[in-house]
Formats: sequence, structure tokens, C-alpha cells
Amino acid sequence: MDRPIGVFDSGVGGLSVLRELIRMLPGERFVYLGDTARVPYGTKSGETITRYSMEIANYLVTRHDIKMLVVACNTASSLALPSLRKIYKIPVVGMIDPCVRRVAALAKREAIGVIGTSGTIRSGAYEQALRLAVPKARIRCRPCPLLVSLAEEGWVEKPVTRDVIAEYLAPFREDPPDALILGCTHYPILKKPIGSFLGNDTVLIDSGEEAARVVDTLVSESGVRRNRGSSEVRFLVTDDPEHFARVGEAFLGGGIADVASVSL
Ligand code: DGL
Repeated sequence: MDRPIGVFDSGVGGLSVLRELIRMLPGERFVYLGDTARVPYGTKSGETITRYSMEIANYLVTRHDIKMLVVACNTASSLALPSLRKIYKIPVVGMIDPCVRRVAALAKREAIGVIGTSGTIRSGAYEQALRLAVPKARIRCRPCPLLVSLAEEGWVEKPVTRDVIAEYLAPFREDPPDALILGCTHYPILKKPIGSFLGNDTVLIDSGEEAARVVDTLVSESGVRRNRGSSEVRFLVTDDPEHFARVGEAFLGGGIADVASVSL
């Protein structure tokens, strides 16, 4: 029960997932690893992302004895989850199934949109999972790579961000989906401008929120919930800790202290 939950991402984006995990599981210990030396993942091949993900999972399992692994990156979830699940005996939670489960539970889900990095969309992972869970739905997926940089700049209210959202999401505005999966850890930062562009008829699905719900259920069901004290987080990065702490604050929604640099 006392063992930490391992959480990893290519960099700061997964902090939006960690934020939800801390909110929903206040008694847990977390080890967050941001692979800042090798970010971005969104443009890399499945082979490379699988190799990176395995190296990180190995590190977290062997050095931190984690009781569960949260792949807090949509790209790594799309490309590496089956390999991770094959190798590790601990539960591995990704971003895709929790979002798809939530969409399947919606009352209105005839038209579904998915946005993410190029790697996530190219992998077809969301599309395949949605086809199984909601076979009659019309599914449209679009890569929106520039949104990652805009979110990291913190340019939430800037005209350039509105323009980029308008360009990427134009087909969705003409024909709004019932639900839009924000299939990238950076996009929750841009929920407000995305929501105002699409209007109130589209439900925005946040992968961090959905994954945290699944982790919450899983720790209860497997009897490994830690109920003592408040949450503890260790932050690890593979490159510059200062940059991570500065940019990451907006994603975590609070200050980040004591970031350690590690080599995998
Ligand atoms: N964290 C990645 C994701 O959710 C976005 C950033 C990257 O490309 O590395 O897909």
C-alpha cells in the first residue's frame, strides 16, 4: 500500500494527469518522471516510443518499486501500452481506454472527435478502441501538433492560439461532434478556447480526469490504497530541472520543488 504510483510522460504534459491523480487520490505517493531529454514523443515512431517507455518503466519498477504505472502521455499510451502490459506484472493504466469508456457512457455519442499529436492519431489507437466500444458512432480524428507548443508557452488567451484552434478544428465547428476527446496531455490547458470555439453542444473529454478515475477504482479494487497522510510527489526528469519546474507549474496547477535529474 505504501509503494508509490509511477507516472511518466515525455515532459510537462503529464503533470495535467498528475494534478487529477493528486486531487482524486490524496493519500497516495507518486513518482513522476518527465523524459525531458527526449521530448517530444508526438513526432516519433512507434518503435522509438516503445523503447523509451520500456526504459522508463524499467527504471520506475526497479528503482522505485512502484505498485502501478500510469502512462500519462497519450502518444506513449497509443504506441507502447501493449508492450508494457506484456512485460510488467503491475497494473498499467493508459489514457485511451478511460476516455473511450467515458464516451461510451454518454447519452449522446453519435459523432465523436479525437484530437492529439501526429503519433497518436497516426497509430489509430483511439479510433480502433472507439469502433469497438461505440460501433455505430461517426469518428473523426485530427492531429493538432502546434497546440503542444502553445500550451507550453501558456498562450491560452492569445489571438494566435484562437487562430490555430480555428484552423485545426474548422471541420468540427461546421459539424460539431457530441464529444471531443482531448487526446493529448497538453490540451486541457486550452480547454477554454477549444470549448468556446466549438460551443456548448460538444462535451470535452480530458484524458487526465478519466485516467485518474480509473486509477482510483483500481487501487480500491486491488486493495492497495494508501490512506495515511497527504500525497507525496517525487519529480524526476532526464534533462534540465529548472525548465521543467518553470513550465510545469501551469500544468500541475501549483509550484514544483525539488526536481531531480536522472539518467535511465
Ligand atoms: N505528452 C504528449 C501526449 O500526450 C504530448 C507531448 C509530446 O509530443 O511529447 O501525446
